[in-house]
Amino acid sequence: MEFDSGQWWRDAVVYQVYPRSFADVSGDGEGDLAGVVSRLEHLDRLGVDAIWLSPFYPSPMADGGYDVADYRGVDPRYGTPADFDRLVAEAGARGIKVIVDIVPNHCSVAHPWFQEALAAPPGSPERERFIFRDEPNNWHSVFGGPAWTRLADGQWYLHLFDSAQPDWNWRHPDVAALFEDVLRFWLDRGVAGFRIDVAAMLFKQEGLPDVAAGTQAAPLAPGAAAVPYEHQPELLELYRSWREILGSYPGERVMVAEIWFAGPAQARPYLKGDGLDQLFNFRLMPLPWSAAEFRAVIDDSCLLAAETGGSVPWVLGNHDVPRMVTRFGIDQELVRAPTDEVLLGRVEVDIALGTRRARAAALLLLALPGAAYVYQGDELGLPEHLTIQDERRQDPMFERTARTFIGRDGCRVPLPWSGEAPPYGFGAGATWLPQPEGWGALTAARQDAEPDSTLALYRAALAERRRNPALGDGELAWLELGPEVLAFRREPGFTLVANFGDEPVALPAHGRVLLASGPLDGDLLPGSTAVWLA
Ligand code: NOJ
Repeated sequence: MEFDSGQWWRDAVVYQVYPRSFADVSGDGEGDLAGVVSRLEHLDRLGVDAIWLSPFYPSPMADGGYDVADYRGVDPRYGTPADFDRLVAEAGARGIKVIVDIVPNHCSVAHPWFQEALAAPPGSPERERFIFRDEPNNWHSVFGGPAWTRLADGQWYLHLFDSAQPDWNWRHPDVAALFEDVLRFWLDRGVAGFRIDVAAMLFKQEGLPDVAAGTQAAPLAPGAAAVPYEHQPELLELYRSWREILGSYPGERVMVAEIWFAGPAQARPYLKGDGLDQLFNFRLMPLPWSAAEFRAVIDDSCLLAAETGGSVPWVLGNHDVPRMVTRFGIDQELVRAPTDEVLLGRVEVDIALGTRRARAAALLLLALPGAAYVYQGDELGLPEHLTIQDERRQDPMFERTARTFIGRDGCRVPLPWSGEAPPYGFGAGATWLPQPEGWGALTAARQDAEPDSTLALYRAALAERRRNPALGDGELAWLELGPEVLAFRREPGFTLVANFGDEPVALPAHGRVLLASGPLDGDLLPGSTAVWLA
């Protein structure tokens, strides 16, 4: 496809496709690349600039495909390399770029190099591409349990995630060379860039020292404390070398990194240099519905972007966290301090309230300076599926935490496209994760016909974003409308007001209402509602 000049990604809206749950053309109950092609019309009408595809590479699926057995292939469950090329071409014809996921921290136990390492004796060169030791240290897996698994010959290998995901030894030249090749392979196939999985963990401190008690970090809950498997200085040089590779291709290609930074200090080094283009800004996701807390993170993040010249795109959902309708629909103290009951999904959810807030949050997200990522299904206002039967759960976190956390399956349920009952037009067969009853009102087809639907709201917001010069990259200036209200101006002539409280507030003077996340009461903005004003 053609790449425009300029850093298109700075104000892009990128839509995350989780291929297994997007759309199923083959009829096996799992989504596929042909399914993405078949629904490009949906993405086109939504108005996104690019899609990011979660992994579709050959994989035993021990972690939903984040256990990669072949970095250059397409898993037959998702189709063929020709399907991938067709997707890039047909998306490109609609002006939609394709970003792919790269998983450089670990591979699958099924990767040929790990199989060679298993077949070779302790101390062999084959084992040096991974992290084998005679004694483990005290590191924990991010998914729960120890980060080491022992082989029959007595050696242990490191896996910061599932035992089916051995960590690469990034100090080995073969590993660096492999990934340079992989980058080039997909760039040659026309991708617009890469989302880098677990981007802060590739290098481990020499000697693999123990972590201090109480400082084990997890990407879904970043610790501020330094741990010897995160943020090692060698990463900066690595990402500079990757930027050079991307820069040697025509057009602007992007690297967006999955780094759960605790605050600006951890993020700054990556953004200041000439390495990573973007770090996801996940810091709004764990917040309760609080104007003050949102404002603090927004301020920090804008400052970080301004002082580094980097880009920190906004995120309210992805395939690793509970859907925002559900997050905003539970007792908000539980968001701040989740109890065991919450982790098990045993919680009362006010879906109507969660939906109001999620719609308001969407207008806030899309009005903020810079780029935004939207997770598939959030444009339909899907809630988390909390009642999947235990025997149907797929996320390895469920077993690795001894079933004390139900895991991430509830946000990965196949999308409802049409109809009144499962599989809601997802495909022909029973879906790989069960869909709940009662999603008939949430299907894309139903919402397409309703002017006030969440889908209609997202479409209108993205269309306005494209035509309004005040939106996208730039700055904001806060307006003070009370402690429970977030309001800002963006020039020329745009105002956002989001009411986080329950009581209506008076709108500031304005010309006209561009968009509202819910009905207005004359010049009053009801609670849990946001509005775009000109
Ligand atoms: C982050 C991915 O988003 C998540 O889904 C995966 O389980 C871990 N990285 C390990 O690859």
